[in-house]
Amino acid sequence: MKTKIITIDPNDPDLKAISYAANLIKKGEVVAFPTETVYGLGADATNANAVKKIFEVKGRPRDNPLIVHICQYEQIADIAYGTAEIIQFAKKFWPGPLTIILKKKDIIPNLVTAGLDTVAIRMPKNKVALVLIDASGVPIAAPSANLSGKPSGTTADEVYQDFRGKIPLILDGGKTEIGVESTVVNLLIDPPVILRPGGVTYEALKKYVSNITVAKQKVDDSEIPLSPGLKYRHYAPKSRLIVVFGKHDKQFEYINNECLRLKDKNPYILCLHPEHEHPSNLNVIKIGLTLRDIQKNLFSALRELDKRNVQVAFVESVEEKEEGFAIMNRIKKAANEWVSI
Ligand code: TXA
Ligand code: MG
Repeated sequence: MKTKIITIDPNDPDLKAISYAANLIKKGEVVAFPTETVYGLGADATNANAVKKIFEVKGRPRDNPLIVHICQYEQIADIAYGTAEIIQFAKKFWPGPLTIILKKKDIIPNLVTAGLDTVAIRMPKNKVALVLIDASGVPIAAPSANLSGKPSGTTADEVYQDFRGKIPLILDGGKTEIGVESTVVNLLIDPPVILRPGGVTYEALKKYVSNITVAKQKVDDSEIPLSPGLKYRHYAPKSRLIVVFGKHDKQFEYINNECLRLKDKNPYILCLHPEHEHPSNLNVIKIGLTLRDIQKNLFSALRELDKRNVQVAFVESVEEKEEGFAIMNRIKKAANEWVSI
């Protein structure tokens, strides 16, 4: 299959391109499209055959459910049993990077929810995404657009690397704004819980749900996780990736020394501290100047390690607050070694 890429203005999407994409969705095909978080791999959420294709092309385990994307509040009643307070809460952040969990209705095939009786729902902010859902006339089930286990796609090119020849269309709306996925919350349980930190910060949620907690992010094989996604390794590059915790100047010193020691392996540094001037003979990827920038560029930086065939890389750490919480969540999952100094 030939994969077509259509460039589209995220602020003023061309309706001809949208209707071409929407027709593919209506026909049960899979289309990649930008959201404000990461690219999504979308299909008609009410069509089990279409959704099956998502799992196949992504290589996604069948027991990991998908998020259903909507463009209007009225759509909630079609797919889930509304809980007025939860929807009221979602409205504080929608359209935006928040996903809520509600009891599902039969119109959503079991495949979407991996057999759970709940469905994850999100109203994204990106205009291409909203207009596409509207033109398709159905809610769109979409996981992040990456092969299972890889960093989520944040540019059309990254999506193309993973799905070239496997899907008919990628809508190229440029690099995604936020760069990490939505925050997934379950408010049906007591106390309410953040299943996955993401684009909406813990601090912002806490203002509305003072007793909200965070699900344990590392689960053993013997445990039943609060969200199926927690079982799987994510975002991992092929290289050895070592995350270094500790005071910023100590991280700096340790990483520089280790890079000298391992210099025959041509190590890389993913630098999260703009003030760190690593020696110029080392390979340094400065991810960003602010936490927002780092969040936006993180997945591309992880993919860059694979592109350059890196054998070993060190990644600095930041405080786990505000955007730093989601950033460190992704880094901890991506890294295969942790060092505290
Ligand atoms: O920002 C995002 O959320 C992106 C864009 C495309 O919207 N989507 C995304 O989807 O990141 P995905 O499939 O990569 O991650 C969905 C997460 C998984 O960890 C999954 O286990 C969890 O949501 N999830 C989905 N349905 C659930 C449910 N009913 N109960 C608990 N967790 C659920
Ligand atoms: Mg994903």
